[in-house]
Parts: sequence; C-alpha cells; structure tokens
Amino acid sequence: MKTATRGSKPGKTSAGTMHAEDSTSSTAQQQQQQQQQSQPSYLQRFFTDQLKDMYYAEQALLKGLEKLKNACSTEELEDAFEKHRRQTERHVTRLEKVFKLIGKKPEAKKCEAMDGLLKEADTIINETTEGTLTRDAALIIAAQKVEHYEIATYGGLVQLAITMDLDRAAEILEKTLNEEEGTDLLLTDIAESFINVNAEQEGGYSWKKEEMQAISNAF
Ligand SMILES: [Fe+2]
Ligand SMILES: [Fe+2]
Repeated sequence: MKTATRGSKPGKTSAGTMHAEDSTSSTAQQQQQQQQQSQPSYLQRFFTDQLKDMYYAEQALLKGLEKLKNACSTEELEDAFEKHRRQTERHVTRLEKVFKLIGKKPEAKKCEAMDGLLKEADTIINETTEGTLTRDAALIIAAQKVEHYEIATYGGLVQLAITMDLDRAAEILEKTLNEEEGTDLLLTDIAESFINVNAEQEGGYSWKKEEMQAISNAF
C-alpha cells in the first residue's frame, strides 16, 4: 500500500515532510527565512517597479501635454490639457511621497508604453492639419489612451497597496487615480459636445450611403 503524501510535489516544500530529528536543517531554514524577511518580497519589488514606471511616465507626460496643448485649436481642449498638466505635476509629487512611505528614494524607470503612446500622439500631430477639429478629435483619443494606461496602473497600485496594508500610500495613489478618471470623462464630454460633430463636417463627404448599401447587400 502506498503512503499518501498530501500537498507535496517533488522538489516542493510541504509541512508534512518536516521531521523533528531534522533540527539542523530546521535551524538553517529559520536562518534562511529570517534572511528572506529582511529582503523585499516579489510583490514589494513589483510594486516598487511600477512606481518607478509611473514616475518616468508622469514626467514624460508633462512634456507630452505641453505638446498636445500647443497642437490643438479649441480653447476647451487647450484648457483641459493645461488643467491635466498641472494635475500631472501633482502626480509626480504624490509618487515621491509614496516612495518616501516605503523608505525608497524616487527613481524613474523607462516606461516603453508611455514612450509609445506619446510617439503615437506625435504622429497624429504630424499627420493632421493644423487648425482642424479632426486634429482635436484625434488628439482627444491619443490623450485618452494615455489616461487609460494610467488608470490601469494606478488602479492596480491602489489594490496592491491595500493588500500590503499600506493605507496612506493607497489613499495617495487613489487621489491620482480619481484625477485620471476625471480627465478621461472630461475629454469624452469635450469630444461629444462639439468636436466630433464638427470634425465630421470638415470632410464634406459622408460614408452613410456606403454603410446603407453594405447593410442592404448583406441581408
Ligand atoms: Fe497622471
Ligand atoms: Fe493622466
């Protein structure tokens, strides 16, 4: 008859495999555990890494928002970009506070995603005509892609901070998260209130006929 070895796999540690006579290895394990406790956990390292990512991303975005502000042609959008540029300055300061709360110096780590999103915004500026509302409609979408990236990251960071019992850090990160969400909504409002409709009229040609024809051909 085989003996059941519940919960243990080859090469894995299981509580059932510990024996009293193995006191030497038990002391060694305790020392190893103590050593591990003084090191940051995988989750703590990941959290710190994401803070560094956002510290880079927010600073890159400060320059990006300046460009967006100069490229758009409506006052409403310019004001929205300027408002968010000022908020973004505070996002940088808040990240510095969170670094301090976990005993780390603020440090930036290259964020490929933000670099890519800002590069896309540059392409939009180069490929659209100055003074058109088509450009403004496109810039809103470019900016919303950035906001959604920030919302995903800050949303995750808030949850991780709560999980790690970092109440103050979670509060600080949530303030920024709320501002990113607010900006996303404000940009949607601006797009829907007049920019998209006016951009649609700049071309002078509607695709409605094509769509109606395609629908009638399909059924
Ligand atoms: Fe931000
Ligand atoms: Fe933002």
